[in-house]
Amino acid sequence: MRVLIVAGARPNFMKVAPILRVLRREGFEAMLVHTGQHYDEAMSDAFFRDLDLPPPDHYLGVGSGTHAQQTARVMQAFEPVLERVQPDWVVVVGDVNSTIACALVTAKRKEDLGVRIAHVEAGLRSRDWRMPEEVNRVLTDRLSDLLLTPSRDAHPNLLREGIEEEKIAFVGNVMIDALLHQLPHARTVDLPGRLGLERGRYAAVTLHRPSNVDDREPLRNVLQALATVAAEMPVVLPLHPRTAKNIQNFGLDDLLSDLLVLEPLGYREMLSLTDAAGVVLTDSGGLQEETTALGVPCVTLREQTERPITVTEGTNRLASWPVTTEGVLGSFHEALLERQGGPNGRRPEGWDGHAAERVVEALAASAALAIA
Ligand code: UD1
Repeated sequence: MRVLIVAGARPNFMKVAPILRVLRREGFEAMLVHTGQHYDEAMSDAFFRDLDLPPPDHYLGVGSGTHAQQTARVMQAFEPVLERVQPDWVVVVGDVNSTIACALVTAKRKEDLGVRIAHVEAGLRSRDWRMPEEVNRVLTDRLSDLLLTPSRDAHPNLLREGIEEEKIAFVGNVMIDALLHQLPHARTVDLPGRLGLERGRYAAVTLHRPSNVDDREPLRNVLQALATVAAEMPVVLPLHPRTAKNIQNFGLDDLLSDLLVLEPLGYREMLSLTDAAGVVLTDSGGLQEETTALGVPCVTLREQTERPITVTEGTNRLASWPVTTEGVLGSFHEALLERQGGPNGRRPEGWDGHAAERVVEALAASAALAIA
């Protein structure tokens, strides 16, 4: 079985690392494609080092651009790789532009190349079509031959869209494989200690969703709310390049003066910051899951979540929407109380460090079925 696995942006690297490791350990031929959607040292290279990812076998170097430009460049650069490698499977993860781009190329060459598509993290739905990720998720699932879900609540979403049950397999959350694997290293890194922060006594924040950061008004509201939280405990904010650029363009730098602003962090540093935080405030998808796995309370600064299991079973809650200072403060205080009450929430089924093994089993079983 020959597998081509695709990563493009920061949230992909921790998902492909465990799958690649298991594929190679089990003796399958596995090749990594990095589209280059993210390319900075901090957004990409640091993750390869921290996650012990081997250098990509194919680097497409597509870089930034509009959605159309980025998606089109990935498609154009990926097709010749697909033709050369002729894999049995193309494995795509998550919901970024690189995911849909490679799935779409593969779907059009299925018949002549005899290749199939597996989507890891299938079936998540925010039902908010303004999110580029929702478009990417729904379309990638529609194109895939094997839909590998991180939680069982994803299954009704797929069945409702008419996807055949035989194509869907529950595997659990591969990102938590990476987390559990790297946690001891992250604790050694001890970023909070190096910053002079006490365990459980600071808020860690990430912010990069277009709905929060691409217009002045919402961005100002969120930053104002964070400045108010900072009056109660230190607020650490590693800044995504998109957010950094917009804060500068909108002249909002003053609102950062009480926050501890950092460059984007590598995987281990971010994990060590999250693990010891009192509360995490975020608009990221991955952090909602990582906080649930770590038992750290999370306030999600979004209107809805495609990861509802982190609310029903885990430690996540949605701040009231649109974001206001009072709304964020209210959720922050609730979350803090939860933290003080001791460990809360539970780790959902299949978030156990063995999801990548189940991914590889599902790929091999389905490949064997195709030959038979
Ligand atoms: C992308 C994903 C999003 C994910 C996020 C994590 C899509 C549609 N969105 O959004 O789901 O949560 O990654 O970070 O794929 N930039 C740099 N250096 C880099 C990468 C980006 O400076 O290495 C800057 C560029 O100015 C770029 C901007 O960040 O235009 C946005 O990058 P882009 O990949 O378009 O989207 P993200 O906002 O990162």
